[in-house]
Amino acid sequence: MGFWSNRYIAVAIGGGIAAYKTLELLRLLREAGARVVVIATAAALHFVTPLTLQALSGHLVRSDLFTPNESDGMDHIRLAQEAELLIVAPATADLMARMAGGHGDDLLTTALLARQGPVLLAPAMNSAMWSHPATQRNVAQLQADGIHWVGPEYGALACGDQGQGRMAAAEQILEAGRRLLSPQSWRGRHLLITAGPTQEELDPVRYLSNRSSGRMGWAICHAALRAGAHVTLVHGPVAMPVPWGAEAVAVQSAQQMYEAVLQIWERQEQHALPLSAAIFTAAVADFRPARRQTRKIKKEESGDQTLTRLTLAQNPDILATIAARANRLTQENRPAPIVVGFAAETQTGAESQAALRALGQKKLAHKGCDLLLVNNVWAEGCAFGSPTNQVTLLHRSGHEETWPLLSKEVVGERLLDYLTTLFV
Ligand code: PMT
Repeated sequence: MGFWSNRYIAVAIGGGIAAYKTLELLRLLREAGARVVVIATAAALHFVTPLTLQALSGHLVRSDLFTPNESDGMDHIRLAQEAELLIVAPATADLMARMAGGHGDDLLTTALLARQGPVLLAPAMNSAMWSHPATQRNVAQLQADGIHWVGPEYGALACGDQGQGRMAAAEQILEAGRRLLSPQSWRGRHLLITAGPTQEELDPVRYLSNRSSGRMGWAICHAALRAGAHVTLVHGPVAMPVPWGAEAVAVQSAQQMYEAVLQIWERQEQHALPLSAAIFTAAVADFRPARRQTRKIKKEESGDQTLTRLTLAQNPDILATIAARANRLTQENRPAPIVVGFAAETQTGAESQAALRALGQKKLAHKGCDLLLVNNVWAEGCAFGSPTNQVTLLHRSGHEETWPLLSKEVVGERLLDYLTTLFV
């Protein structure tokens, strides 16, 4: 069962051109298994038709306070009470003003007044309207009233201007809703994640790298953001957008990743939010070309048909460095983050589980970290870039757990749950 399966979600639509983007939100919610009810203001129905909304939500659209669907006429109370989440998208300047003023002159505003559960606003308007002092006063009032927000974003607006006022994308509104409904077991905690491959340059056009897609690190990052963590994501070159809300540092080489992580480590010692854990999923190149050629290496320059000999130099071990620093803090009786490594192994045959564990134990001791997750990248469903993974978790205490093949998303959630049991 997915996160949205069978959840009852009310989507309220204000009268703005961005209402067309809400249609995609309805589609995504239904596709994810949510039960959706739509409340549209009279103005919203100038932009999207009741038939479209009905087709996408699977229910009659609620709009008029005085033609209720419920036999007792209490639609506004039912809608307010029964939905797990009420999303207002687009939230127009006028709708926000009416909400801030406590108005109740149509079905939506009465439902909002009667609402006690979470309300998520996705504002959309012209940037001048957004920055107008009256709108900003209403924003402050609604924030003080406990309303949650997603957007507005900066970008091209329907009126042709560029500025802040674009409604957040449907996927982002969905993600914001998911974070609101998720248990906040990491709220107030700071997590560092490394992810993706590194690229070690040979010359201006070539590099040595590996097949890591970054998906494992991304999955942990998404899970942590949903659980309320502050996430710093240090990543190599990957093809995915940075998860919304993460503090990202993009690097290319292992040396750059090392320097970025050390900087974060040093900053966290003064940070208001010190690190609770650091998870190293990145596939860091152990070696780099000893000399990067400043110009493209020409095959004619090798003189004959043999390849130019490649001399490699060792890269710093980021995980081992951070583990050593954390261990020093522990020895000094100071709070230290939990340090977690991943180990990509290549095993075949019947002995593979036992051999994997043995390799993992050796690596755990060698790196000096608290926890190591071993995965066999040759096993079915565990390859680089795959959406699933199968890991064996090894704790330095000797505790071991072998998890089944799971989506990387679920591996991330399980790992974070496991870590919360270790927090003192
Ligand atoms: O990115 P995906 O396509 O989703 O694939 C996920 C993954 C297979 C990359 C991931 O699950 C994984 O196994 N990551 C670790 C890959 C790796 O480099 O393993 P390793 O055994 O070489 O290194 C062990 C640990 O030391 C890792 O935590 C690594 O980040 C760290 N390390 C390694 C070398 C180095 N110089 N510095 C490091 O910090």
